[in-house]
Amino acid sequence: MRQTSRFSGILSTHKSWRCAAWSLVLCSTTLSVRARAELNTTVPVETFAMPYEAHAKAILSRLSLPEKIGQMIQAEIINVEAAMSAGQHPLRDLNIGSVLSGGDSIIQPNTPESWRRELGRLQDEALASSARLPLLIGVDAVHGHGLVRGSTVFPHNIGLGASRDPELLRQIGAAVAAEVLTTGFNWTFAPAVTVARDARWGRTYESFGSSPELQQILVKPYILGLQETAVGQQTLVATAKHFLGDGGTTWGTGVPSATTAVPQIDRGDTRGDLEALLAVHAQGYKQAIAADVNTVMASYSSINGQKMHGNRQLLTDYLKKPIDQGGLGFQGFVISDWNAIDELETPGVSDPLHRYQAQLVQAVNAGVDMIMVFGQLTLADGSSDHEFRFTRVHQLLADAVEKGLISPARIDDAVGRILRIKIKSGLINTDGTVTAMTPVIAKDKFGGTAHRELARKAVRSSLVLLKNADHTLPITKQKYRTLCVAGAKADDFGVQAGAWTMGWQGTLGNGLKAPEARTVLDGLTTMATTRGITVEFAANGEFAGADCRTGDASLTLAVVGETPYAEFKGDSNALFLSAEDLDTLAKARSRHGPMAVVLISGRPLVITDQLPSWQSLVAAWLPGSQGEGVADVLFGDFDFRGRLPQTWPATMAQLPATDHDTGLFPFGFGLSY
Ligand code: BGC
Ligand code: BGC
Repeated sequence: MRQTSRFSGILSTHKSWRCAAWSLVLCSTTLSVRARAELNTTVPVETFAMPYEAHAKAILSRLSLPEKIGQMIQAEIINVEAAMSAGQHPLRDLNIGSVLSGGDSIIQPNTPESWRRELGRLQDEALASSARLPLLIGVDAVHGHGLVRGSTVFPHNIGLGASRDPELLRQIGAAVAAEVLTTGFNWTFAPAVTVARDARWGRTYESFGSSPELQQILVKPYILGLQETAVGQQTLVATAKHFLGDGGTTWGTGVPSATTAVPQIDRGDTRGDLEALLAVHAQGYKQAIAADVNTVMASYSSINGQKMHGNRQLLTDYLKKPIDQGGLGFQGFVISDWNAIDELETPGVSDPLHRYQAQLVQAVNAGVDMIMVFGQLTLADGSSDHEFRFTRVHQLLADAVEKGLISPARIDDAVGRILRIKIKSGLINTDGTVTAMTPVIAKDKFGGTAHRELARKAVRSSLVLLKNADHTLPITKQKYRTLCVAGAKADDFGVQAGAWTMGWQGTLGNGLKAPEARTVLDGLTTMATTRGITVEFAANGEFAGADCRTGDASLTLAVVGETPYAEFKGDSNALFLSAEDLDTLAKARSRHGPMAVVLISGRPLVITDQLPSWQSLVAAWLPGSQGEGVADVLFGDFDFRGRLPQTWPATMAQLPATDHDTGLFPFGFGLSY
């Protein structure tokens, strides 16, 4: 109660608001008589056979202010479930418009069926609200539906950037859409249309590469693929992120975090002349909007010192302004990033609730339409607020409108945009019904053979051959009797999938590997066996067999690289092979045959000193679940097609490297057989 009285200082107690937000059962007579919506049933909403713009306006006109504000909130599923376990009904009582599962928000058992059941339960809750509107349910399907066990995991974007293959991207988009929709989610926070300029950034692999020419060719087909594929009546909502300039931040300007007290680069400041910055970082958005992308996520980062979540000039006057008026003409809605509004500056306001309200006002007035929130605020005395942020957002936004800090027209604009996307994506039908869930799971839609074949093809297309002295590759029976595979990373699903796979930071090992997934070693072994080549695997590089020890008629293939990381946890000013990998390489090298190296990493690593002792080098990026695509190319069934999506630096001092720098290997470099 202490918090309530502290809070009442800024919150005027408006009857209508309290009624809608807290005492629905008492205030509303309609709720008690309305049947609870069941999974897979449709519930009448309105009867308008109009284009979705008019339909959205019609819905908007029947919503109260609290109902509208609820639509602007995206709550974390973990928090919603916690509240529901405590007997509360936030989705119903606050008319919350959207929920998300963040990178670590995983239900158990982690199966498509249990996700469908749980997400269906949440849709039921939302449909039982006074607004009777279904939820947009978001997830970071950034390289396939990586959160859900058994999904097809595609290469991370950096590898797709190396492929430079628009048609491949369109097909992957369609496959991801099917996998996501099938489990009951209807929104992916992808793709990052980021132009990653500095490999020291922990999100480099989320980008197609460092030159906007890659975003220009790949973003549109990918978004078309993601948004055009229907499962049942629903299509997926895609997100172009993180607006704007997330990949251009300057080393040393990042936001210090629990893991790094020293500012690094993630969430940092992108500096320079605005026109010049737009020429690089806006290209992906132009393509995304040409593909009619439904949402744009604002970036944690700043431009010339101004946080993007408060940047009205770019979020509204540029992004949403019609093209003929010099804007980008974006017609969807803007979602904030995870608790990102908490990072907005509020000079002179220190009380946590006042501060949070000021941050909300700033973001919404700047152009943020929906607020992504997790957890609770920390109060002035250091204790945790007893309310979840989603409740505070509802209260504080309603209060801000009452106080004239946000105009009703701005709220209508935001909610109108959200409703249009709910209609456009098939969540709300033009015949006046609501479709809460997609049809039942079909194996071909989730982790099936066709998707895995596509992922395998994507791996083949993404590999970049950087060195191949003396025709060491391809691996043939004529050249080699034995293939000596060194390095634990050759047989590690978690490593090759990378982060955003069943965990924000990813995992290590094969514990979560689906039966249909293949490690690089699996693929090499199968391929070698069919060709009559013997395989010896030594995780630490210490081979036992004679061929591998002497180098006689054998090829040593070392698989080394990075272990998974996401966001600021991956910021690094020392992009070198680990001591463990160097040790494996040293052991594997202790004889005379040729050595080929496959590097699994989200970005170039500085390998200048090691390269002379390797006959071949292949950059495999973060290939995902179908590691057999590596063997397809190493054994010569397919040629190398990938080209470097970033300049490969010879030294750390060369970072950030531009597309014009030569580095160790220049941007666009890639050999073939
Ligand atoms: C990331 C976003 C992501 C969101 C939800 C944030 O930390 O920056 O890219 O979509 O979390 O998981
Ligand atoms: C969540 C991610 C989110 C990140 C933000 C993690 O705990 O799982 O989804 O992007 O926090 O820092």
